[in-house]
Amino acid sequence: MGLLHKDLISIHDLTVGEVATILDVAKKLKKKQKNGEPHQYLKGKTLGMIFSKASTRTRVSFEVGFYQLGGHPIYLADSATQLGRGEPVRDTARVLSRFVDGIMIRTFSHESVKELAQYATVPVINGLTDLLHPCQALTDMLTIQEKLKVLKGRKLVYVGDGNNMAHSLMFACAKVGMNMVCASPKGYQPDPVVLAQAQEDAKETGCTITVEENIMKAAKGADVLYTDVWTSMGEEAEREVRMEALHDYQINDELLAVARPHCLVLHCLPAHRGEEITESVLEGPHSVVFDEAENRLHVQKAIMALLMSDEKI
Ligand code: CP
Ligand code: NVA
Repeated sequence: MGLLHKDLISIHDLTVGEVATILDVAKKLKKKQKNGEPHQYLKGKTLGMIFSKASTRTRVSFEVGFYQLGGHPIYLADSATQLGRGEPVRDTARVLSRFVDGIMIRTFSHESVKELAQYATVPVINGLTDLLHPCQALTDMLTIQEKLKVLKGRKLVYVGDGNNMAHSLMFACAKVGMNMVCASPKGYQPDPVVLAQAQEDAKETGCTITVEENIMKAAKGADVLYTDVWTSMGEEAEREVRMEALHDYQINDELLAVARPHCLVLHCLPAHRGEEITESVLEGPHSVVFDEAENRLHVQKAIMALLMSDEKI
């Protein structure tokens, strides 16, 4: 088993089969790790991890995951590299490709990640851009599958800012056949290009990807309620305006009451209690946010093993 592309930049680029493979391998690796079985598929390899934005989960899960696979990860904070001082992305890509076996990058511009992948001869993994967060959305599919068994035909309702998280969830849902409604106010709805691409992808699996302004209407019958921060990294200057515009787009007990009784609550974290989600829901029985966070480790190990191992996984 492997993946068709050199890189993992967007779930939109993956086939339905590749998404299923990532989830299957993640489950296999999770089991091996829990049982203490060896799974050093990347022994002797190195991973460069470029961060232009803050991170807790992504940094630790990639670093620990790569180590557990037998490799050596290198943390490259933007501020401490020449990239941060203006060395071109295309030069960084070619230099790093001479040293490392793979590159993970978290940055602002999605175009920069595409350029990095174009010039790098080693696999590039998108650890979040302003446009997408694919590793998180793939992780979310694993978490939902573990809890609800079947993904196809389920309803995921995303509440809040139509941001990078919403975009990657739209692509992920389309690939696994989950119906998704993005409940966002005008001005904060997902990118129409991403929406159109996800809707096109959804034709293959027979699900629907839609946008709805009315949050209560959207949440009716949801199997999963999902939210993310109102102000993403890089948008701090807009915080006050966003607080006002997104004020009603919160996961709270009232919203949960119109969802299905078994409804799961997911959040990529970090969460802002009292803004996009209430304390009672985040800490309540429907919330699976910490199982979700753990799954970053297992899914990213699957992605790295599939992209970088010389062995059959
Ligand atoms: N969910 C997520 O990507 O978290 P970090 O910003 O901590 O990496
Ligand atoms: N939308 C958030 C996700 C953080 C994991 C951000 O980009 O800051």
